[in-house]
Amino acid sequence: MATTSAAREQKTINDFPLPTRQAIVNSSYPEWYKKYRGITGKARVIPLTAGFLEYLKADGIILPPDTPVVPISDRDSGVFSITNTDDSDDDDDDEGENPAQNFPEVHSAVIAAIAELGGSVYPKLNWSAPKDAAFMLGNTLKCSSPSDVYLLLKSSNFITHDLEHAFDETVDVPDENGKLLQLSDVEYALVLRKWVDVITSVEFRCFVKQRKVVAITQRDLNHYDFLENGKEEFLALIQEFFARHLEKTFPDADFVFDVYIPKTLLTESRVWLVDINPYSPKTDTLTFAWQEILNIDPSIPGFKPDFRIIKKNDPEAYGFAQPYSAHKLPKDVVDAAAGGPETMLQFKNDWKNIVEGLGGTGIDDSDSGSDDEEGDKGEGEEKEGGTAEKKN
Ligand SMILES: Nc1ncnc2c1ncn2[C@@H]1O[C@H](COP(=O)(O)OP(=O)(O)O)[C@@H](O)[C@H]1O
Ligand SMILES: [Mg+2]
Repeated sequence: MATTSAAREQKTINDFPLPTRQAIVNSSYPEWYKKYRGITGKARVIPLTAGFLEYLKADGIILPPDTPVVPISDRDSGVFSITNTDDSDDDDDDEGENPAQNFPEVHSAVIAAIAELGGSVYPKLNWSAPKDAAFMLGNTLKCSSPSDVYLLLKSSNFITHDLEHAFDETVDVPDENGKLLQLSDVEYALVLRKWVDVITSVEFRCFVKQRKVVAITQRDLNHYDFLENGKEEFLALIQEFFARHLEKTFPDADFVFDVYIPKTLLTESRVWLVDINPYSPKTDTLTFAWQEILNIDPSIPGFKPDFRIIKKNDPEAYGFAQPYSAHKLPKDVVDAAAGGPETMLQFKNDWKNIVEGLGGTGIDDSDSGSDDEEGDKGEGEEKEGGTAEKKN
């Protein structure tokens, strides 16, 4: 498209400007959440103690007792928890095996957060969710007990990456005192987000270069007719959201942000920030190649972002496997589709309500006057006191 500057020498992936360690820190959830909590989903940020980090890194999976694991019949992971299932009071000699003894503060904060967030949560660490471990819970990241959370975290290579490789592929930029950020400087935190049945067709990844949105892609790589019609509107919404909330406030000029826009042509729209990712080859570009993004020149007159959605005949639309997608659509949509065209029509009429309802289920409506605004804000701020702080 006209977004690449053909006249100039084409950049290759070898020309990628690797991010600084500070940029990696800036894109971590505990860091950006401080600024953007009003535009993202409801969550709790729990600072992690040395005891919990050791537990995460240790071999083997031992789960704490006394945390009821919701009995789901297809949850046959082969991993056993030491859950108290009966009234065996004299089983106290198991106590030596309770790993939560080494992280009591984190454990009680997790129990409290799950309760406060309505009983089910989506977990992640500073950068990553344990999407590669979803199979442990029957292909979902929906956690309703601390054991669910620990099982996912301990089974995930993505989490190991956060703990051990977050600063790989970065360029070191010493600060004024000649100090470089080290992994030991990272204030690790467990992020528990209130669970939402996300409509993945309206999730978009947006690439920012020189403080301009240069490229936008659908995140769910299936074809959806309605996206074709709604494209201009989604673009305008994303641009407006970026200009209003991120353009001037995010510390780096280049970054990647993910949004969720539960909007159909029938409903009022609202844009939610889902995540911020580093401008780095590690961030998945989905329908783009990094090389394409590197070659976009946003300074050319009349520049418009390249917005890619999956067309009907795109190869990606044919059963493209999404190994980490827990839910492509909410259950209501799947059920409606299974019921045939009439049910689907009925569903279309109900769509408005469903989508509007989503805002109330998981989103921190703190800048639009939701009724739990005060309590939620207060608690969040208190908990955040101990989370990652800017290093310089
Ligand atoms: N609160 C939530 N409840 C349910 N699903 C969620 C929630 N937050 C995010 N997701 C789903 O998980 C996906 C990945 O979330 P994200 O925070 O970007 O994790 P990662 O950075 O590991 O990719 C999102 O695109 C969304 O579909
Ligand atoms: Mg992410």
